[in-house]
Amino acid sequence: MSIISKDISKAVTLLTAEEVVAIPTETVYGLAGNIYSEKAIKAIFETKKRPFFNPLIVHIPSIDSLNTIVEDIPEKAQLLAEAFWPGPVTLVLKKKNTIPDIITAGKDTVAVRIPNHPTTLELLNRLDFPLAAPSANPFSSISPTTAQHVETYFKDQIKMVLDGGACTSGIESTIIGFENDEPIIYRLGSTALEDIERIVGNIEIKNRKEITPDAPGMLERHYAPKTKTVLTGNILKILPVYKGKRIGLITFQSEIKDNSVEVQLALSKTGNLTESASNLYDVLHQLDKMQLDVIIAERLPDHGLGKSINDRLQRATANI
Ligand code: TXA
Ligand code: MG
Repeated sequence: MSIISKDISKAVTLLTAEEVVAIPTETVYGLAGNIYSEKAIKAIFETKKRPFFNPLIVHIPSIDSLNTIVEDIPEKAQLLAEAFWPGPVTLVLKKKNTIPDIITAGKDTVAVRIPNHPTTLELLNRLDFPLAAPSANPFSSISPTTAQHVETYFKDQIKMVLDGGACTSGIESTIIGFENDEPIIYRLGSTALEDIERIVGNIEIKNRKEITPDAPGMLERHYAPKTKTVLTGNILKILPVYKGKRIGLITFQSEIKDNSVEVQLALSKTGNLTESASNLYDVLHQLDKMQLDVIIAERLPDHGLGKSINDRLQRATANI
């Protein structure tokens, strides 16, 4: 029997009983539990096979509830929250003592956001606790953007996926931390860098190759298909390298006329970066199911959401 359901009341009941429920957000589906339930939070880590050093994002229903989670709010954090919430910006701020260490991996900061999805906002409003939710995929694999993706991963491990349709943004939130009250990007994501800089001015992007990164979403290999995947700025040049192989191609918008390609999918036929982001993981899921020898992905224009998509493709292909 399918674990996919649109029944918000059922999700309320399960979450209140300290169970794990997969929830929709505008970015990707999350594997959610009561932040104050050790049982639920441990189950999230076990289900994902996620290492405990990797902290979780806390999801809240309103800016008002922010001060129950964090100690102080730098001025630029307040500006970002007002500009982008509900929406795909996660702020990493000094945590209140009441936030359990298991959520934050023992750090004195906590990641928090208000998701912009009507189903999950209603759910959060009906609960009297916030939800910790990492993306609902096994550690390092492709993030889920439909209820079906989650069901395929976890149908034997969780009781329910709350169905909220396909995620509209399609890649994870942009994570912003603060050092000396100045914002720093820890993870590129669904809110474009340029939009953030419009609110807080020039912003640094932290080195993404650290061994013990502040945001393990920054680990070199992440969001990865099982199939060997390569990223290129020049498809026509790379195709002969894989002659005789079963090739799957991900292009930005164009169709490549080359009969050595077994299957090709464009992220957006009109060259729209927002549409590309919303299609990215589904396209990776589709190609990864096809027993191909190689997935070749075309690098997108390196601005706006193109920059965030390139970041994800880079991590899908990193070979470490
Ligand atoms: O869009 C999203 O952000 C989705 C949806 C479900 O909200 N969630 C998500 O969660 O992507 P996850 O767990 O896959 O990625 C959260 C990232 C991790 O890389 C984690 O290391 C980082 O947030 N993070 C969490 N708490 C942190 C903290 N206190 N300091 C630095 N990074 C933190
Ligand atoms: Mg994730």
